[in-house]
Amino acid sequence: MTTALYPGSFDPATMGHLDIATRAAAIFDKIVVGVYDAPAKNVLFTTEERVALFAEALHGTPNVEVKSFSGLTVDFARSVNAQVIVRGLRAISDFELEMQMALLNRKMVPSLEVMCFMTSLEYSFLSSSIVKEIVSLGGSIDGMVSDNIAKALKEKYRKLKESASIPRYLNS
Ligand code: PNS
Repeated sequence: MTTALYPGSFDPATMGHLDIATRAAAIFDKIVVGVYDAPAKNVLFTTEERVALFAEALHGTPNVEVKSFSGLTVDFARSVNAQVIVRGLRAISDFELEMQMALLNRKMVPSLEVMCFMTSLEYSFLSSSIVKEIVSLGGSIDGMVSDNIAKALKEKYRKLKESASIPRYLNS
């Protein structure tokens, strides 16, 4: 049985993330989506919210489980018995960081393979940060995130506007 870990911040998951998770689920026996609890950037959603939102969006994909993790990705991979780390690649601009992470992860745990899935063309322009920016400025995010995530984003910014403080949670 091959288990793959798909780690990320997922603040929140976009259709691009959903696409990678479901495509990976069609190849591996099991996918564990790992929601990193402490990204080096401000997050809009709590760890619990990011897990719940992605899990709900993935509902219906039976071999995918969404969990939060802290610490090193390689340690979490080991704890869930993953042999592979899956990441999505959009453009050349993603490549340098992905290459660095892949090489460092494999330096730490040589037996752990890293596989990058090329984005689907229709999602190549998407990122969590751009989606957050669009929602915060009142634009339409139709087709960019799942319905439950669109609802959660609108609700989050409505509450932030009500409390009259919109921090710059846009850098992820
Ligand atoms: O969605 P992101 O923000 O691109 O995901 C980055 C993530 C969470 C996969 C990466 O920052 C990570 O692996 N963090 C866990 C800590 C870790 O293992 N750092 C060393 C990476 S070589």
